[in-house]
Amino acid sequence: MARPLLLGTRSQGKLRELRPLFEAAGFVVADLHLAGIPREPGEDAIEVGATFAENALAKARYYHRLSGQAVVADDSGLEVAALAGAPGIHSKRWCQDGTLDAHALDRANNALLLRRLHGATDRSARFVCAAAYVDADDEFVELGECAGAILTETRGDGGFGYDPLFFSNELGRTFSEADALSKERVSHRGRACAKLIARIPSRR
Ligand code: IMP
Repeated sequence: MARPLLLGTRSQGKLRELRPLFEAAGFVVADLHLAGIPREPGEDAIEVGATFAENALAKARYYHRLSGQAVVADDSGLEVAALAGAPGIHSKRWCQDGTLDAHALDRANNALLLRRLHGATDRSARFVCAAAYVDADDEFVELGECAGAILTETRGDGGFGYDPLFFSNELGRTFSEADALSKERVSHRGRACAKLIARIPSRR
């Protein structure tokens, strides 16, 4: 039986990764645009938690309340060892320029990351993702991580966010150089969502 699922994110980068993952698992996937859920000013106040897990659950609950549908939402980010785990849950708007579109924001965040790591010897980092599922009867969160290092210059054209600077230890290349399936196999989001999918009851 078809299982409808709403992806609670406005990030095109995340949608490109989440949609095939959940479709391959048999879900009939809608995004916020398709579900006719316009951006509300209130959305900016959803992510006030102190952890990825709190924020992922808050987003999934919010869109479940609005839609009445089963929802998956993720909260994710980059933790850099030499920066004591920053930018962490602040990864999306780390450069603090609210005027930029998604691509310009990614470029500004990457430029800031290079500046902050200038001269650093320890360039190790990890991506972390909390993926949350909420429906009328259930809610749960799963975590995924992947380890790597921040390069001194960008490499590759694919992906989004910090992908061009993040060298995956497991893939031996940046996430921007990797094809979608390779990134999904080792990425924080791929791992968190695989665990989430295994927990979603099949009757839904
Ligand atoms: P969120 O929408 O609050 O979860 O913020 C996620 C932010 O973390 C994104 O805007 C990116 O800056 C960064 N991020 C999360 N996952 C990835 C990824 O897979 N690749 C690159 N950057 C990511």
